[in-house]
Amino acid sequence: MPSHHTPYAINVRGLTKSFGGRRAVDALSFTVRPGRITGFLGPNGAGKTTTLRMLLGLVRPTSGAALIGEHRYEDLPAPARTVGALLEADGFHPGRTGRDHLRTYAPALGADDRRVDEVLAQVGLDEDAARRTVRGYSLGMRQRLGIAAALLPDPPVLICDEPTNGLDPEGIRWLRGLLRERADRGHTVLVSSHLLAEMQQIVDSVVIIDKGRVVYDGDVAAVGEPTVRVRALDGARLAAALTAAGAVVEDAGDGVLRVRAAGAEQIARTALREQIVVTELVGEEHSLEELFFSLTEPGAGQAPATIQETAQ
Ligand SMILES: Nc1ncnc2c1ncn2[C@@H]1O[C@H](COP(=O)(O)OP(=O)(O)OP(=O)(O)O)[C@@H](O)[C@H]1O
Ligand SMILES: [Mg+2]
Repeated sequence: MPSHHTPYAINVRGLTKSFGGRRAVDALSFTVRPGRITGFLGPNGAGKTTTLRMLLGLVRPTSGAALIGEHRYEDLPAPARTVGALLEADGFHPGRTGRDHLRTYAPALGADDRRVDEVLAQVGLDEDAARRTVRGYSLGMRQRLGIAAALLPDPPVLICDEPTNGLDPEGIRWLRGLLRERADRGHTVLVSSHLLAEMQQIVDSVVIIDKGRVVYDGDVAAVGEPTVRVRALDGARLAAALTAAGAVVEDAGDGVLRVRAAGAEQIARTALREQIVVTELVGEEHSLEELFFSLTEPGAGQAPATIQETAQ
């Protein structure tokens, strides 16, 4: 099975989907690299599920391409073994036990009973849970069973739509570990969410979309990098001294400097040495949410959007 351990990037190119006359996904392009966890983020109705369904061959693009490696899902040599997927509504048979649900799919995925028990353990469904019918499962247990099904063939590509839905804080931590382990093995991991703050703790890279378009594509580390906001009586001289000391200084307007790559103490010491009076010195943390709103505020080239907005 050569497909099994080959890393696959996910390539979305000029992807568009219209429902009636409305574009749910609008000329979307991005790449998801193997070996990292990528968050696919955006508010309700942004087009996340539609995009993921196109990647899985469940929705036909109006134009453009949604590719696993260089193939459409249905053209992959062994699609079900290559791509594991957790989708919004997984059709569990309510009268089946968790274990039987997995056993139903296992043969087609080249997985045996041992593998079924392995993934049950991996997702934290114990023997008692495995024997119960899905009817009696909590939301979080269903989510875990859906993840177990996605993991069955140990696929090199994992695509999860809102995997944290229904998970408690411990469950979210567990999920992070599970995704991290796969990324560390060189697998491709794409997870969608409308909860930007939650995802910032889990993912390495993000593609943020709004109204079917990419508004940000990059590393989370770059977003989270702390800065220091400084105001001084001789800002220009302080900026020069800080730059000479290796800091990255940006003029934020209104007499404010935004400084990267130097902490508040280092800035204060530089100012002291240069005998410059500092009137304001505040550390700033940056969140994906802040970034999202800064990119979608009126004047940022797009209409306003709220995370609570529902388009259904
Ligand atoms: N089958 C369909 N028919 C008509 N419109 C659809 C269909 N599927 C999705 N849409 C519309 O496409 C847009 C994007 O929906 P999608 O489900 O992809 O958003 P999402 O980003 O997954 O949102 P959420 O965070 O709520 O899951 C919405 O306006 C939705 O109403
Ligand atoms: Mg969705």
